[in-house]
Amino acid sequence: MSDSEQSVTHTIEPTDRVATLVDDLTAEEKLSLVRGAVDPEGNATGYLPGVERLDVPELRLADGPLGVRTEESATAFPASLALASTFDPALARRQGEAMGAEAKARDQDVLLGPGLNLIRVPHCGRTFEYYSEDPILTGAFAGAAVAGIQSTGVVATPKHYVANNQETRRASVSAAVDQRVLRELYLPGFHDAVDAGARSLMTAYNRVNGTYMSEQRHLLGDVLKGEWGFEGFVVSDWFGTESAQRAANGGLDVEMPGVSLEEQFASMGMDPSAVADEMDPEIAEGMPDIGAGGHFADDLLDAVAAGDLLEARLDDMVARVLSAIEWAGLLDDRRDSGTDDELADEPEHRDLARTIATRGTVLLKNEDALPLDDDASVAVVGPNVDEAILGGGGSSETTPFDETSPVEGITARADGDVAVARGLAPVESVSMFDGMLGGDDAASEADEEPDPEIDAAVAAASEADAAVVFVRDAATEAADRDTIALPGEQDALVERVAAANDDTIVVLNTSGPVELPWREDVAAVVSQWYPGQSHGESIAAVLYGDADPGGRLPVTFAPEDAYPADTAEQFPGVDDVAEYSEGLLVGYRHFDATDAEPTYPFGHGHSYASFAYEDLAVEGETVSVTVSNESERAGREVVQAYVDAPDAPDDLERPPRELAAFEAVAIEAGETVTVELTLDDRALGRYDAADGWTIDDGRFTVAVGRSSRDLRLSADIER
Ligand code: BGC
Repeated sequence: MSDSEQSVTHTIEPTDRVATLVDDLTAEEKLSLVRGAVDPEGNATGYLPGVERLDVPELRLADGPLGVRTEESATAFPASLALASTFDPALARRQGEAMGAEAKARDQDVLLGPGLNLIRVPHCGRTFEYYSEDPILTGAFAGAAVAGIQSTGVVATPKHYVANNQETRRASVSAAVDQRVLRELYLPGFHDAVDAGARSLMTAYNRVNGTYMSEQRHLLGDVLKGEWGFEGFVVSDWFGTESAQRAANGGLDVEMPGVSLEEQFASMGMDPSAVADEMDPEIAEGMPDIGAGGHFADDLLDAVAAGDLLEARLDDMVARVLSAIEWAGLLDDRRDSGTDDELADEPEHRDLARTIATRGTVLLKNEDALPLDDDASVAVVGPNVDEAILGGGGSSETTPFDETSPVEGITARADGDVAVARGLAPVESVSMFDGMLGGDDAASEADEEPDPEIDAAVAAASEADAAVVFVRDAATEAADRDTIALPGEQDALVERVAAANDDTIVVLNTSGPVELPWREDVAAVVSQWYPGQSHGESIAAVLYGDADPGGRLPVTFAPEDAYPADTAEQFPGVDDVAEYSEGLLVGYRHFDATDAEPTYPFGHGHSYASFAYEDLAVEGETVSVTVSNESERAGREVVQAYVDAPDAPDDLERPPRELAAFEAVAIEAGETVTVELTLDDRALGRYDAADGWTIDDGRFTVAVGRSSRDLRLSADIER
């Protein structure tokens, strides 16, 4: 059956109440439940107007995943990559709970997150919105985030299903990827999100093996709704529907935004001609067709009338939306409270944003430069030290109530003198929205002032006990990073400062891995990603040792040319096809298989404490190991277990080692704890084209340690 042919498979069994509603709806009313419309409040990213005649309430959808994006303020959480660096999914759950509560405080019913595409190439412009290059880590965070959001009665929307691993030509590129690789790398995170009960899921813009994801009968129908039993509604990415008939028959349930951007602007009293003319060409290349947005409105009912779409399919689309509305409790009690600043700005949410930022901070290198002495004199250097780096550009932009810059955070914490010397003009943020609204005005005011000079930063550094240099990149949805080198003269700034002060500490505020050509010359390197609203407070807490840097790398750091997928055919693709010919060898799997040297491997990160591993035992599915904190201070350890099938024949092409389980633990000075990890079937299995998930008989090695390249103990098991 081709994707345009009619079919009705994988329907849900709605409650009697929903089934009765579906029966009572007119065709036009059904349409209004599956195509977006303009939010009269102008606050929601997506809007379904409901059916007044039958007391079906409206439904409001707001962007995530770094916070609730409406016209009003909300907690700006750190990048999802920072969250995943904690290796502690309980924090994703808590962030989900907080975002769910804030969504309600903003009168929103659905949160468009978490984002969980796998980090295939470090250049991806949305790396900061995603979790990891590893599917097990990704899935653990995705599931926890969904559970947290939905515990508040707000619908979660894991996105972007699937293989949206680049922003370049994201609306047309086709990922040429084989089934095993999809199953083992790109799909598991989504499966975990569905297992956690997600009531909605967003399709990717791109095509997979030639077919748009909004029309993928196999991946939407057979896999998602069939095998995984997904009962929510599938919503398109914004302007990511190509045809009503093909999409509805393929398994898409809701088209968003359902109107063109021009119509949306016009409804807000804005001039539609302001759209897109001044957009940066690279960003424009990553945009969908924002003029087209009404396929369902134009064609869906005609397709039913013509027999090209079965009414039963339309009914299932509607039933899925109504079931989500019912699940959220909205059929009985549509919150109509307006929005509430106090509920959107709970002190616990601020604390949580700070906790995630400190716990997600990765200490990549430390030659006794950290923690800083309380009374050390410090030079704070870097082009953007006066602002909190909230995130990258695009739909995850969140406006916080409050934020602290590095200068504010360090000044508040330090007992010694603090000198500030920026060294360079600010690196400008980039955003997909700049072009849409007619140009970026964010950084232009500073242009009047003379540029800061590197010499002044060097002078300040040479007089201080320690120099802390903050460097950053700039990334946005809709464009990939051209390079993973730091923008502008920042490498030169670090090198000059390092030559002037032996205790130079570099803090990376980046969307993903970057190149560090000076790393041998500095005393410490800290990666804090995009830390969100508590930037200054959280980095000060780590630099002064009030908090242990709890983070470990969820992505490999390496020189740009050492990563996989480094040919044009693989990334960004040729003739709109990106060949995933690296197969399973993505991230650390590639580095381990090829002996390419990472700069800092997956899972790496120092604590201020030090740990010893003993007594590894594997019984059944349980791996236990004792870990002792051998230092005189409390610290956090992330215990990681990797699995290898040493005797597997070469033709099975198993990666050399794969993360199987992990646990983040706090260990007091001198304390010993026993950590238990569970090996689920996926950890040992592989996806076989003919037989599906398969665990081969034979020997597996389970290695446990501090990172993918610092394994302390190992044990063999037979299966
Ligand atoms: C993004 C989605 C987002 C949607 C609505 C798209 O540009 O890809 O992640 O949820 O816009 O803002």
